[in-house]
Amino acid sequence: MPGQMVRWREFVDPARFERAAADFILAAAAEAIAERGAFRIVLAGGETPRPIYERVACAHADWGRWHVYFGDERCLPPDDPGRNSVMARSAWLDRVAIPASQVHVVEAELGPEAGAQRYAAAVSGVGPFDLVLLGLGEDGHTASVFPGGPWDRMAGANPADDDMAMPPVVPVFDAPKPPPGRISLSPGRLGDARRVLFVVAGAGKRVAVARWQAGDPIPASRIRPRGGVDVFFLDSARR
Ligand code: 6PG
Repeated sequence: MPGQMVRWREFVDPARFERAAADFILAAAAEAIAERGAFRIVLAGGETPRPIYERVACAHADWGRWHVYFGDERCLPPDDPGRNSVMARSAWLDRVAIPASQVHVVEAELGPEAGAQRYAAAVSGVGPFDLVLLGLGEDGHTASVFPGGPWDRMAGANPADDDMAMPPVVPVFDAPKPPPGRISLSPGRLGDARRVLFVVAGAGKRVAVARWQAGDPIPASRIRPRGGVDVFFLDSARR
């Protein structure tokens, strides 16, 4: 099974971390638009990306060519502040001129099964994403790919093959991070991307980062794009 190639960058200053991540996103967009006329990005959920999204929202970009997807979504009402899409809208998407038809929100209010079916239709035929943004949980999860999830239960002799064989969108019913009901792009679909950037912040993530660097098979290590992944880690306790 090919390993995961990881390029690590550690930060101690939040402003530098946020600026570096925002610059990474904008550079990926400029390149994709120049080469293919469009930029397809998958957004990370949780709280770490919020200040990064706020910085991106202040940039001058060719927003009409951006197409936005979500790595996962929580099964909550559409306007619930706990929704990853609500955070992304308030921090960024509602402040720039990306056409509404190009923001592909997960209809997670339908529940894991029905929402996953609808989202699978939205991402079918999209091809490799230009950039996938991901966070990291303290247990090593990413998006809603948690330890012991269907990916682990399905895993056979070669997890890489299993990941690609798995449906691109997976319903989650028992997430250890509330809410239990979620919808997630699968590890294989998250890794079907030209670039993957993990944004990780806080001393609470140190153990997960150390396990990852030691080669533990945490869920984040299952995201294996051909070009490797970039991880920006703000170890804020070291300031
Ligand atoms: C979610 C996210 C999840 C998140 C990590 C990190 O729905 O919660 O998709 O994978 O990225 O748990 O969350 P923080 O950035 O808030 O630490």
